[in-house]
Amino acid sequence: MYLEFFHRWRLGFLFMCIAGILLPFFGFLALSPYSWLKDFVFSIPNRSLRHYHAGDVIPVYRSMPSTSSSQPWTLSSSRKTKDAKNVRALPSPVVSPTVRTSRDSSKGIFVSDLQHPSSTSPPQIPLSVSFPSKSADCEPCDISVGQWILDGDHYPLYQPSSCPYVDQAFRCQDNGRPDSHYLKWRWKPKDCDLERFDARRLLEKLRGKRMVFAGDSLVRNQWESMLCLLREGLTNKDHMFEIKGSQITKGKGNYAFRFPDYNATVEFHRSHFLVAEGKQVDHENNKSRPILHIDTIHSTSKKWLNADILVFTTGHWWNHGKTAKGKDYFQESDVVYKILPVMEAFRRAMNTWASWIDENLNRRQTKVFFAGYSPRHFIGGEWDSGGRCDKETAPILEESQLTGYPDKMLVIQDIVQRMKHPVQILNVTHLSEFRKDAHPSMYGESPRENLSDKSPHQDCSHWCLPGLPDIWNEVLYAYI
Ligand SMILES: *[C@@H]1O[C@H](CO)[C@@H](O)[C@H](O)[C@H]1NC(C)=O
Ligand SMILES: *[C@@H]1O[C@H](CO)[C@@H](O)[C@H](O)[C@H]1NC(C)=O
Ligand SMILES: *[C@@H]1O[C@H](CO)[C@@H](O)[C@H](O)[C@H]1NC(C)=O
Ligand SMILES: *[C@@H]1O[C@H](CO)[C@@H](O)[C@H](O)[C@H]1NC(C)=O
Ligand SMILES: *[C@@H]1O[C@H](CO)[C@@H](O)[C@H](O)[C@H]1NC(C)=O
Repeated sequence: MYLEFFHRWRLGFLFMCIAGILLPFFGFLALSPYSWLKDFVFSIPNRSLRHYHAGDVIPVYRSMPSTSSSQPWTLSSSRKTKDAKNVRALPSPVVSPTVRTSRDSSKGIFVSDLQHPSSTSPPQIPLSVSFPSKSADCEPCDISVGQWILDGDHYPLYQPSSCPYVDQAFRCQDNGRPDSHYLKWRWKPKDCDLERFDARRLLEKLRGKRMVFAGDSLVRNQWESMLCLLREGLTNKDHMFEIKGSQITKGKGNYAFRFPDYNATVEFHRSHFLVAEGKQVDHENNKSRPILHIDTIHSTSKKWLNADILVFTTGHWWNHGKTAKGKDYFQESDVVYKILPVMEAFRRAMNTWASWIDENLNRRQTKVFFAGYSPRHFIGGEWDSGGRCDKETAPILEESQLTGYPDKMLVIQDIVQRMKHPVQILNVTHLSEFRKDAHPSMYGESPRENLSDKSPHQDCSHWCLPGLPDIWNEVLYAYI
């Protein structure tokens, strides 16, 4: 009798306590400006009820951002998409169990596509990425804001000349570049640390998967960096090979490297514009001239299908002569426009790309990234009129000297925001702008016997390897 009474009394008391705490709390949430907190509380249902194992499918939800945000994925919580002003001063929400689980998981945690059960929260779109395994010191933050720090103890991530997969054009030390400080810079985002690239962990995550880089030579630069970074994680460094035995040369645009120990493939498929290049024959004088089909996806898109990770970029080719002029060059269905401004053509082409992604890829399978525009540093002229960067041995240190976020990226951000398939922009534009010291300049080809016989053009577009693209891959790593 007594016990039963006690139990009832205790239960009633407990109930009152809980109600007393929860009611004001939820009231606070409903009214509070801290929408990130509300989202967080509502966003992980059953989080304390289940113990998750590596490889489990965990439903995680993300609010459709109320303000326009083009970050469909966050680094490790819903915090990043929220108003940065609110976020900065506040403590981080509890590290979710997903983060902990994924740390020792070999396959990563894949997030399912279920609908959110709660009708009280704002409209939800499912997050279809695996959570990044973050170390505790890496709170979600905007990686695009920060500074370069000289860190010769930890960088470069692999030694110059050690990696056989670097194009001659990016082998700056081998080609005679005398200075080496440019190899030792680490990017330090303002509000967090970028986790150091862990090749083994990434190889484990890539087990049984395909990672595909598609786009222009800048993404090729990044792909070669990825091959070298992953190579560092192999116990036997010879356990990777090109499927057809192809050597990496400038002329070829399709490669697939196998990592047999991991059943993983890392590919590059060249596509300067992501849309189809073509020719138009002028019957009057029997000449053909190049045109760009801005309404047709590039033929290599068949290689993008069924990839698990896709990294795109395009940008530089849109600055070149005939493309930039836009005269008799851009074609949609049967029409070749007499003139179409290049930015409008770029927007339409990127829409073609976006529709293809939305229609052909499964968001549960494929994570899509778009690498931010890579800045150039031709000093004292353009690329074809004597511009150079061979005297640059240190990054730009004054932010005021940077040129600013390119319009092309605004176009991409706008399009990505409206896509069904989540696309993560690797926002490396700003951090790369500082690095006027990291281009091959005149060391993009083998050293000449006659030193005064210099090539008239310097390469201040691409980047030496090891070098800056390794940092882009650290950013990519943070999201995978
Ligand atoms: C949460 O738990 C309840 C009860 O165990 C279950 O019915 C419900 O499906 C779960 N929700 C999710 C999203 O797993
Ligand atoms: C990328 O960074 C730039 C400059 O830091 C910023 O203006 C832009 O909004 C960022 N874009 C995204 C998608 O994060
Ligand atoms: C290797 O990965 C592919 C998917 O890329 C998969 O179909 C195949 O079964 C895997 N093979 C082994 C031996 O695990
Ligand atoms: C046009 O050029 C092609 C080769 O480029 C040639 O075979 C053909 O005979 C030419 N036709 C005319 C009408 O000149
Ligand atoms: C080196 O090249 C310059 C200019 O091309 C030429 O004038 C000079 O004679 C060459 N020197 C030698 C040793 O070949």
